[in-house]
Amino acid sequence: MQGISDRVHLTYLIDRSTPSDDELHPGSDVVLGLSQTPKTLPPRYFYDDRGSQLFEQITELPEYYLTRTETAILKSCAPEIAQITGDCELIELGSGNSTKTRLLLDAYRSAGFPLVYCPIDISAGILESSAHSLLQDYPELEVYGLVGTYELALEKLPKTHLPSRMIGFIGSTLGNLNPEECDLFLDRITHALKSKEYFLLGIDLHKSTEQLEAAYNDRQGITAEFNLNMLRHLNQRFQGDFDLTQFQHIAIYNETNRQIEMHLRSLRSQIIHLQALNLTVEFAQGETILSEISRKFDLDQMKKLLTEKQLPCIQVWTDSSAAFAVLLCQRA
Ligand code: AVJ
Repeated sequence: MQGISDRVHLTYLIDRSTPSDDELHPGSDVVLGLSQTPKTLPPRYFYDDRGSQLFEQITELPEYYLTRTETAILKSCAPEIAQITGDCELIELGSGNSTKTRLLLDAYRSAGFPLVYCPIDISAGILESSAHSLLQDYPELEVYGLVGTYELALEKLPKTHLPSRMIGFIGSTLGNLNPEECDLFLDRITHALKSKEYFLLGIDLHKSTEQLEAAYNDRQGITAEFNLNMLRHLNQRFQGDFDLTQFQHIAIYNETNRQIEMHLRSLRSQIIHLQALNLTVEFAQGETILSEISRKFDLDQMKKLLTEKQLPCIQVWTDSSAAFAVLLCQRA
């Protein structure tokens, strides 16, 4: 049997000679967001080490049904997915905690197919550690990881090793994109796939305001901590002086746009500084920063959109109360 390091192949898509805007001007997106009216901050600043830990805790909360429900759906539909796609390599956008990936790999293994997994992640560290733990448990697995943005990776997918490919985008991460960004993202998926190849999508569905708001306002206050942690992260990263006791977590469901909107609300009028960004920001009492949207989809509208994008849905699985859906699409 081959050793673990012989079965992992990482490609760095980040071009060292042309650093990205973020590398040249770290925090320019923070300056931009906090200078707008209303103020916004990019959700990516949630995920420092503490934020990733808090997100893991969120996935185990009684009110936060998303992760649990999607995992249960995948557990029961993974064998069908393997039957439909046949011999197929799994390309995954984001390589976080691999519980759901394992369900798919288990199904392909039980069906007797070879296992090829191509995780895509901006963080080489996360990619390597998740690849390592999978390789330990799947002795026949080959990993071809791509380090870079989804955008770059979708343009430069590795050459195919198996008869078909499936791009997986699960966890309802699509919900964090606004409609224009979502459109562009699906165009990139379409462009990356050849005719007959697959796209596996997990999305949270529209439901009662009460249930949605409970999922983002848990009783233990973990989501509040997760939201406020973004300010702590900014303090640490950019020498800031946000006082976390002077901001409040808010999550409301916007029924018109069908999206959860998470805000950080200033409890008084105050001025904060981010020294490393040479930035001073004034807050009125009650003023909010929009830190995340999480869209809740209508299944029929999503199917229509996917068809328009040349990614018709060939099979859908949901849970018994239709809270969440997993869609298998096939490039026209
Ligand atoms: C991981 C982005 C899908 O939108 O539900 C959880 C993030 N934010 N609680 C979501 C999140 C607040 C989550 N996503």
